[in-house]
Order: sequence, then C-alpha cells, then structure tokens
Amino acid sequence: MAASGSERVAVEKCKGINGLDKVVLREPRGSTAEVYLYGAHVTSWKNDHGEELLFVSSKAMFKPPKAIRGGIPVCFPQFGSHGSLEQHGFARNRFWSIDTDPPPFPTNSKSFIDLILKPSEEDMQKWPHSYEFRLRVALGTGGDLMLTSRIRNTNADGKPFTFTFAYHTYFSVSDISEVRVEGLETLDYLDNLQNKERSTEQGDALTFESEVDKIYLGTPTKIAILDHEKKRTFVLRKDGLPDAVVWNPWDKKAKTMADFGDDEYKHMLCVEAAVVGKPITLKPGEEWKGRLELSAVPSSYCSGQLDPQKVLQNS
Ligand code: BG6
Repeated sequence: MAASGSERVAVEKCKGINGLDKVVLREPRGSTAEVYLYGAHVTSWKNDHGEELLFVSSKAMFKPPKAIRGGIPVCFPQFGSHGSLEQHGFARNRFWSIDTDPPPFPTNSKSFIDLILKPSEEDMQKWPHSYEFRLRVALGTGGDLMLTSRIRNTNADGKPFTFTFAYHTYFSVSDISEVRVEGLETLDYLDNLQNKERSTEQGDALTFESEVDKIYLGTPTKIAILDHEKKRTFVLRKDGLPDAVVWNPWDKKAKTMADFGDDEYKHMLCVEAAVVGKPITLKPGEEWKGRLELSAVPSSYCSGQLDPQKVLQNS
C-alpha cells in the first residue's frame, strides 16, 4: 500500500472531526481525497497543489444523525423528496463499513477504498428491502476522483425494489456569478422551485444569478463547470446516471440553513449526477452500477467558449 519512494501511504485509515472514522487517499503526485465512513461521504478532494476542489460548509456539523453539509453526500434510496422516505434517503447518515472482500472490480489506481452499506433492522422498517450497496472511491494517477456504486438486491422474498440516486457533489467555486455550466443546454428539466414542473432549458450555457434547483433529464455523459476566476474547469463524466441536478440555495435559503454560512452560496455549486426521472428497479440478484469521474483541469475560457482542446487533452 505504500506509495512511491516517500513515506506517503496510498490509503490511510484515521480519525476525522469529532472522532469519526475517515480514510485518506493519496496518489503519488500529491492529490488527496478524504472519505468519512459516516455516510461514505467524500469530504475533501485536493489537487497536487493542495487546493481544495470540493466545498464543505464552515458550519458543517459532522454530527450524526445530521448529514455533512458539503463534499459528496450519497442520496439513496431516494433522491430529494421524490418518494415517501426522508429527504435524500438514509445512506448519507448511516455508518458504512470498510468492505475487506469486495467482488472483483478493476481500478487503475492503488489509492482506493471500498465501503459497504447493508440495511439495519430499523432501516428495514422504513424501506423493507435487503440490499448490498458497495461504493468504491478511487483517486486516479492524474488526481481524478472516481466513485463507483454497485447496488444489489438481496431480498430473500423474491421482491424487486425501486430507488432513485444521486452523488450530491458540492463543487468549490471562486464566485458563483462567474461560473458557467456546459452540457445542459436545451434539455428538459423538472424545476423543484416550481412544484417539479417540466420545462426546457435555453440554448446557452447555464449562468447563475438566483436560487436554482433543477433536475435535468437525459443529460450527456460529460458536463463541464467553468470557473472563470479560478481558470479551472471541472469535468464530470458519468455512466449509468442519466440525470443531473443543479442546486444553489442563494441568499434567502442559505439563511434558513443552520449548517450553512449566509454568504457561502457564493462559493459553491452542486451539480449532481443522478437517477431521478426513471427510477431503477432491481429484481433479487440484480445489480445496478453508477459511476462518476471528476477531473479538475486548467480552463482556457476565451470569449465565453470552452476550449475543447484543453478538455480533450485531459479526457
Ligand atoms: C438538492 C435538492 O439536491 O439538495 C434541493 O434538489 C435541496 O431541493 C438540496 O434543498 C439540499 O438538501 P439537503 O437535504 O441536504 O438540505
């Protein structure tokens, strides 16, 4: 498990805030990621200059049963309020375990951790299904962050189950009013601020000047977030995750959130690879896989255009 010549360890298990168990991933060029077992929650992803790429609120509580505000919460078995369960389901506020013997799954990296969640008896009362949810978090050699979820129906009663899902990623941005999102133009979306009404997005890249809470349906496998001020572009690549949620609470909603600073909305944007429009149904023995890969590349943002060469070089 030791990395390169130095003493740096590729995978280190240690204690985080409030004594919660966490795992630190390191890759030889200096990128790091941190994952809390509470929620299987990625709370940090840094590039090889040590710059934090994810947003975590300064008011995040790291106190079960509250989910951690920021990073990458995992929403399962329900996204948002699209069902009868608690908001965003319960996976984000359960204690996951390290999966010491996961079924084979190739990853081109030494720096990864496998986590697993199975339902408790209490969970079964709320959602009467048996499952194994395996999450692998891996840091690629170029510093890319890769999350792969494998969810298997292990019901012994022969019953299928249905779920929705999201990697609720909070990206750190310099100034929300300088940010553009490319890849969601002209798509249909459900607007959470308009009773989930369906509308169609305009032809331009998304920019932000007020609260947004939209579920874009049938999105491309690649979405880019351009941070003009930071000269950084986040590229999301996803597989098995057709939808994308875009959320920023803006000032008024921010003030109603106890675990979020009043002005922090300026420095974050959630773009969440998700399955919401057409929920997944699994029969016993069936498995679903959803994969998200995040890269942060220097962007060449000229006259409003994403330079495709720069993105391609890193694809
Ligand atoms: C987004 C939802 O994914 O998460 C929003 O679309 C919600 O409606 C936001 O407000 C934050 O949710 P929570 O439960 O973490 O406060």
